[in-house]
Amino acid sequence: MIAPDPRGALAPADRIICALDLPSLGEALRLVDTLEGRIRWYKIGMELFTREGPPVVEAVLQRGGGVFLDLKYHDIPATAERAVEAAGALGVSLLTVHAAGGPAMLEACARGRDRCKTPPAILAVTVLTSLDAEALAAIGVGRPVEEQVLAAAALAKEAGLDGIVASPREVAKLRPALGGDMLIVTPGVRLASGTHDDHARAETPQTAISDGADLLVVGRPIRDAADPKVAAQVFAQAVEQGASFSKK
Ligand code: C5P
Repeated sequence: MIAPDPRGALAPADRIICALDLPSLGEALRLVDTLEGRIRWYKIGMELFTREGPPVVEAVLQRGGGVFLDLKYHDIPATAERAVEAAGALGVSLLTVHAAGGPAMLEACARGRDRCKTPPAILAVTVLTSLDAEALAAIGVGRPVEEQVLAAAALAKEAGLDGIVASPREVAKLRPALGGDMLIVTPGVRLASGTHDDHARAETPQTAISDGADLLVVGRPIRDAADPKVAAQVFAQAVEQGASFSKK
């Protein structure tokens, strides 16, 4: 089984990316095996990749999963370009870069992608949701957060990237601004009935999808569920409900 192209039409269950926020290859693969047949996408972030490296990507691919490599590249253009090529060679389907790297870095990343045999979709991180207006001002950004998010998303689109990562609360504004072709990938989603963990402003999968998100990143609500398979199914049902109202 091969993971679907994230840029193509996706079934509701294929619009969920499970975050492998686990410290070891063994624990990550146990979750992937538990979710077999229910989840096609897995996000590998800094901790797991730093501990386990490319073998964790290979192991998920071997099991038929698609990989979202969330390392948020931000460096000089030549370095970021080569990192994108290297990620493409690993076989990842999606990866992240920081829009704050600027137009030249984003364009270089698009060139790196285009040299890949199977080009991954590149998503730009606009503004980290951990940054508020005060934190942005401290790094010299005077614009309100929302304006900065829209400006960074526009940069990503102009550079020829494939999409952005956004807070679910931003999707309704971003979708009309970006048009239908850019992917919007959204973490911070929670079922109406569930805990919000540390998300101050979580949204439901129904709202995120109906506002125009393409893919949802879900970590703890699946990882920590008594039965992760059932939790994945409940999220897929919520996506299906949202899709029937989608503004995309
Ligand atoms: O457990 P939870 O569903 O909150 O996990 C969401 C995942 O999305 C985590 O891997 C986290 O690093 C990521 N995330 C993000 N941006 C945010 C919030 C979470 O990339 N603003």
